[in-house]
Amino acid sequence: MERLVNLCKRRGFIFPSAEIYGGFRSTYDYGPLGMLMLRNVKDAWFRSMVQLRDDVVAIDAAILSHPKIWEASGHLATFTDPLVDCRNCKERWRADEIEGVCPKCGSTDLTDARPFNLMFKTYVGPVAEEASVAYLRPETAQGMFVNFMNVLQTTRRKPPFGVAQVGKSFRNEITPGNFVFRTREFEQMELEYFVPPDQGAKWFEYWCDERLRWYRDLGIPESLLRLRPHDPEELSHYSSMTSDVEFAFPWGWGELEGIANRTDFDLTAHAKMSGQRIEYFDQATGERYVPHVIEPAAGATRTMMSFLLAAYDEDQVAGEARTVLRLDRRLAPYKAAVLPLSKNERLSPVAREVLALLQPHLMCEYDETQSIGRRYRRHDEIGTPYCVTVDFESLDDRAVTIRERDSTEQVRIPIGKLVEELRGRLAL
Ligand code: GAP
Repeated sequence: MERLVNLCKRRGFIFPSAEIYGGFRSTYDYGPLGMLMLRNVKDAWFRSMVQLRDDVVAIDAAILSHPKIWEASGHLATFTDPLVDCRNCKERWRADEIEGVCPKCGSTDLTDARPFNLMFKTYVGPVAEEASVAYLRPETAQGMFVNFMNVLQTTRRKPPFGVAQVGKSFRNEITPGNFVFRTREFEQMELEYFVPPDQGAKWFEYWCDERLRWYRDLGIPESLLRLRPHDPEELSHYSSMTSDVEFAFPWGWGELEGIANRTDFDLTAHAKMSGQRIEYFDQATGERYVPHVIEPAAGATRTMMSFLLAAYDEDQVAGEARTVLRLDRRLAPYKAAVLPLSKNERLSPVAREVLALLQPHLMCEYDETQSIGRRYRRHDEIGTPYCVTVDFESLDDRAVTIRERDSTEQVRIPIGKLVEELRGRLAL
């Protein structure tokens, strides 16, 4: 874990936010490589959940949200964690995480637990009064519920169908930590899949299988993944059944995604609160019902961290130790690095020509400083699947060397065939 955090900082994946001011309360900024990788995680999710299906559409709802949404959804009343204070050192803890002893000073002199609401409250407009209260959304899901009728009417869908959304959510976590595992600002990737009421169980099973498959397909080994059904007392206020996809983090199993059967809880609650009809009506059959909802809800930032952990490796190449991120090609920040053998005025024009050839097809980096060995190591360490090297022979034979990250195998390819070769290897 420590080595990964170090690599993330050193190579530009993830920086502590406002570091020049000493950091800011477990918030993080995604650097040049991290923003590329996070985008790839979200794109991989979107491709699988929206693009490759004909039964899912996506929306992008506001983060700043109407208080009625959270009143209806139950978040105002019940989206809380039990908070205790240590009377000795004044530290605050989540009661369910500490078993009656302060982890900082060891004191057992703790206050009784009281519910602490996790939503960030703010005021819209110039006056901070009750009438102008708004909340930063703690989940993207409600955007899909309050827009259910809008989506239904504009897309003419019939259950089963889904509405997906990727975006930021905010929770005033009492104990953020473990790097980006738990932060107060994070990104979610959620699908609300609306089904006829009698099909909930079937689609719950379907989405559990489907979601596990997604993580495996992107390179997380079977041994680091499991599906864990919730005990009844653990269920969220809206759920009749939940299973978590869990990952074996260095500190133990932790949730990557919750798959819940939210029944008709949310649509019914919003219909009641708003006084509007929220239901599906089949004009052909006259059938009318409130759909049930199966929700696979994943965290983009947390998932990115698990992909990094699963990909991190150290091995030996020609007797020399190296660190390598064995990231799936779809997740790697750069797909290829273009490297002139050395910084040389005869090599640069050809290398730049190769870069221009590749750029329209894939995210590349051009790098001509330091020895070629060090540049290979750097790209191994940031997970670049291919290095394309331009050497002095290239000037005569118009060919370049492709070096593969995991095997370090090298092959020579004519520049004219390079795009086709890399597109094939990267399955673009
Ligand atoms: N709409 C349902 C929902 O939000 P959740 O289990 O609370 O369910 C879904 O959140 C996912 O969002 C989690 O599995 C996790 O990956 C991510 N997540 C939740 N809270 C987070 C936090 N504080 N920091 C990072 N990721 C978080």
